[in-house]
Amino acid sequence: MLRLGLNIDHVATIRNARGGAHPDPVRAAAIAEAAGADGITIHLREDRRHIRDGDLDAIRKATHLPINLEMAATEEMLAIATRFKPHAACLVPEKREERTTEGGLDVAGLHNQIAPVVRALKEAGSRVSLFIEPDPVQIAVAEVLGAPVVEFHTGRYAELWLEGDEVGVAHELERLKAASREAVQRGIEPHAGHGLTFDNVKPVAAIPELAELNIGHFLIGEAIFTGLETAVKRMRALMDEARAEQAA
Ligand code: PXP
Repeated sequence: MLRLGLNIDHVATIRNARGGAHPDPVRAAAIAEAAGADGITIHLREDRRHIRDGDLDAIRKATHLPINLEMAATEEMLAIATRFKPHAACLVPEKREERTTEGGLDVAGLHNQIAPVVRALKEAGSRVSLFIEPDPVQIAVAEVLGAPVVEFHTGRYAELWLEGDEVGVAHELERLKAASREAVQRGIEPHAGHGLTFDNVKPVAAIPELAELNIGHFLIGEAIFTGLETAVKRMRALMDEARAEQAA
């Protein structure tokens, strides 16, 4: 089955817009579990623009779901992650001025910086994931680094979808399919995420090698109109439909 990780960062973004405690990402984690999500994803950024340090333990207490902590490969984040010991730790690139994670981590170029972080996270018991572009060179280096999981950045796919560029979308999907096969051949579990919506999720969900999708911004936005439970259930149903159609 294809797992759904719900990224609840943007519940905290709305909370932080006013200060105070509402809306509480802890409540989002509990609702996600009841609605059929398989994991909770949170990104503790250097600037703490959404999830904050105090949220980590509070979210863990609120849910039985595994927690996937997205983090930059910095000393500060490594110290926090090795104390917190999330089920999974996903290394992502982080630029202070960016609005969101704009591209995959260049694990080939940054190998020497990333290697000790991967080692330390594995020693702390977390399942390490590398958020990379669906690119064969990046996957090969992920194997050398000993990462059990890679997450493919689907931002380019989502952008082309929005632009209505059918040729571009088809090309990007082929890259995602080839990358997913390549990862499995190298013994790495492939995940995907970024920019996925009700409209564009099915072709990605149909890639049989993918084990998990991590989805945040769209679902938290949709929750404003329909509630979080309804939004998560609908996404779960679309992912299951895609898998059933692919298998038929
Ligand atoms: N996966 C990773 C590694 C991310 O950093 C993010 C958020 O930037 C997501 C998935 C979810 O992306 P979105 O919020 O666009 O659904």
